[in-house]
Amino acid sequence: MGQRVHWSGRLAFILAAAGSAIGLGNIWKFPYIAGVNGGGAFVLIYLLCIACVGLPVLISEIYIGQRTQSNAVKAFEKLSGDKKTFWSAPGYMGLISAILILSFYSVVGGWVLDFFYQSVSFQFQGKSAAEISDILGGMLGDPVRMSISHTLFMGLTVAMVYGGIKDGLERWTKILMPALLVLLVAMLVKSVSLDGFSAAISFLFSPDFSKLSPAGILEAVGHSFFTLSLGMGAMLTYGSYLNEKEDLLKTGLMIAFLDTFIALLAGVVIFSIVFSFDLEPASGPGLMFATLPGLLAQMPGGDYLSIIFFMLVLFAALSSAVSILEVAITYFSETLNKDRKKVTLGAGLVIYLMAYLPLFSFNYWKEVKVFGLNFFDLFDSTSSHYLLPIGGLMISLFMGWRLGLDDSMRVTSGNKPLALGLMWLTRVVAPIAIAVVIYQKVVA
Ligand code: PHE
Repeated sequence: MGQRVHWSGRLAFILAAAGSAIGLGNIWKFPYIAGVNGGGAFVLIYLLCIACVGLPVLISEIYIGQRTQSNAVKAFEKLSGDKKTFWSAPGYMGLISAILILSFYSVVGGWVLDFFYQSVSFQFQGKSAAEISDILGGMLGDPVRMSISHTLFMGLTVAMVYGGIKDGLERWTKILMPALLVLLVAMLVKSVSLDGFSAAISFLFSPDFSKLSPAGILEAVGHSFFTLSLGMGAMLTYGSYLNEKEDLLKTGLMIAFLDTFIALLAGVVIFSIVFSFDLEPASGPGLMFATLPGLLAQMPGGDYLSIIFFMLVLFAALSSAVSILEVAITYFSETLNKDRKKVTLGAGLVIYLMAYLPLFSFNYWKEVKVFGLNFFDLFDSTSSHYLLPIGGLMISLFMGWRLGLDDSMRVTSGNKPLALGLMWLTRVVAPIAIAVVIYQKVVA
């Protein structure tokens, strides 16, 4: 198969991995679940989860990839004496999650493209939040319109991955990630001047524990997983293209920091607008698509802010989508020993077609339910509520018990106290937290 390609350096890897982590999870989902769960106390618990559950699993995934220089399935087999074992399971589950997640992610990515197009053509001008909510409803009811935007989103994703690690992923994330940071900071500068800015800060950063429910705590654990792209081998796959010398502790910290920083920035920007217009912070998933353009449209310069905002969300969604597709490409091109470009087109096409199940669940197949869920919710729930946490649980146990202290020492470059910390986090703390979430989802 020849020499395995590598990222050109640590920064390139950090940008690509941060690109994977930072996505719809940060800009769309984090603000709305923080809003629904009462703000500050939820944010505090979320930060704790990132540090104690997300970070150790993130570092484990990158380490397992880097050490084995292999795809998500082979990595576990290599570390288990080169044979198929029980530990191949997280690799296979990751493949299924990748296909399921990208199928619905691409549909939402299509909505973002659609809203981007509408802001560029100034269609939100002078419209109220209620009118924009109608636009959202109209879009969901129009399968042809959604199909066009989904096709474009998936086409962009495939095109970015097509060039490979260096000429595809690395080249694009190097442009998109800094652009995203600049755009978000520009929006932050704008929000500081809004009346609602200080209310947003106190909503997000002064914890009131009476507002936090047990379900909110569980949501925080689950979200720390989704937002860091954990549990499906995306970080493992990216790590497998990383040179063996890199310092993983610092790298992992940097990625988790960037992801958290962007989520908090997005939260501050969105809530500054929400509070400036006396809106309800707990308005749920519609917050970004329906409410925000409506609010922006009424602000001076809001038309342009809306363009910037949806471009930013589009960048974030694309750099996450490519990492999901890469899991399948690395696996299939290595296992079938096929040309990467052909696999990219093949896997892209399969996922593209699969996405019509969630896409039609908003219109033609609205009434079609499997286990009481439409296809969109079924794909989302199966992957985010079950496959990702179970995958993450197994990865954590694998790192903590199967690999153990020697490997943790490699991660920390021989620093024993830190290595012990990592080992016990992956052995006990993270698995218990994840197991509680899975249990709660199963019994709920
Ligand atoms: N982390 C991405 C987000 O926040 C989503 C994602 C999940 C990407 C799993 C890859 C793997 O939107």
